[in-house]
Amino acid sequence: MDDTFTLVTGGAGFIGSHLVDALLTDGHDVRVLDDFSTGKDENLDEAWALAAQGGAGLQVMEGDVRDEVRVRDVMDGCGAVVHLAAVPSVAQSMEDPVGCDSVTHGGTVNVVRQAVEAGVQRVVLASSCAVYGDAAQLPIAETTPARPLSPYAGAKLASEEVCMDAADAGQITAVCLRFFNVYGPRQDPGSAYSGVISRFLAAAAAGEPVTLYGDGRQTRDFVYVADVVRAIRAALSRPLVGATVVNVGTGRETDLLQILDVIDERAGRRLERRLEPPRDGDIRHSCADARRAGWVLGWEAVTPLAAGLAHTWAWFSGGYGAEVATWRFPPGGRDGE
Ligand SMILES: NC(=O)c1ccc[n+]([C@@H]2O[C@H](COP(=O)([O-])OP(=O)(O)OC[C@H]3O[C@@H](n4cnc5c(N)ncnc54)[C@H](O)[C@@H]3O)[C@@H](O)[C@H]2O)c1
Repeated sequence: MDDTFTLVTGGAGFIGSHLVDALLTDGHDVRVLDDFSTGKDENLDEAWALAAQGGAGLQVMEGDVRDEVRVRDVMDGCGAVVHLAAVPSVAQSMEDPVGCDSVTHGGTVNVVRQAVEAGVQRVVLASSCAVYGDAAQLPIAETTPARPLSPYAGAKLASEEVCMDAADAGQITAVCLRFFNVYGPRQDPGSAYSGVISRFLAAAAAGEPVTLYGDGRQTRDFVYVADVVRAIRAALSRPLVGATVVNVGTGRETDLLQILDVIDERAGRRLERRLEPPRDGDIRHSCADARRAGWVLGWEAVTPLAAGLAHTWAWFSGGYGAEVATWRFPPGGRDGE
């Protein structure tokens, strides 16, 4: 990676703020562009503390990724862009498909165009396993045909195409990372559609019952945020050309009842389960074929679910201090290089 700024759009969000911390820790100058719609000031507290220790600079710019002038300005002096800003909610995209497409797809059009204009070499895009829809076969490889089932998924697929077109034209190197179910500290448990682990842990910390939709046997590929950050770091630093699409998952399926068992253990009591009917549109099973990430990025997820849940529980339950040294850098290296 260059010594110039790395631009992180959506850097005040859950995944973005962890990425910012890791880049600063390793001495890279970081610029954040965020409109703070779901991002939070406090997510950047640690980043400011790291920057204050010297060694790397942090600039936080408030603005909208759709704003041409703003994005042109923030692109100045950047060597790479990690584009995370989006409306990251399937449910919200169902309620407001036009608005969500405008941010997620339209924002990507603007970010990529301004990156090309500014001569930025590399764009790493946060895509999603949602592009696969309800895949008939597991694990899901990148060769599985995309079947987006929501405006959110459609906007992510369209965003990938924007990146790929620019890469095919030789204008940038593009890496589209299809994140599976990311979890970790700072994930907002705010809505019924937030990451299920954050909702369970927030309920456990508050002593409230957890809500389970369906029988709890639905599976997901849960990947810890520090591993995701390592994948992004690898996508920034590996010698790649053209366009690359890579799954970012563990290759392991876990059902929700298994997650609850681990949380029961952590919380020291059995959480009350409140059962609700399955939700429309929820897919039954999901799991990444994560081999391409190994071949292309030299990356694999290294954080065992129990360890990731322990760190995340520590954050949700307020016992975070003692865990800080370990949650960010799981065994196996911290920079993905
Ligand atoms: N968390 C997951 O499990 C997951 C899975 C697949 C893909 N993703 C993708 O990863 C990215 C980051 O997700 P996250 O979980 O950290 O969500 P998040 O909501 O915490 O982060 C998104 C960030 O983008 C910012 N943002 C939104 N609209 C913006 C705009 N118009 N201009 C500037 N900034 C804007 C928000 O304020 C927020 O800080 C998203 O693109 C999301 O779709 C996340």
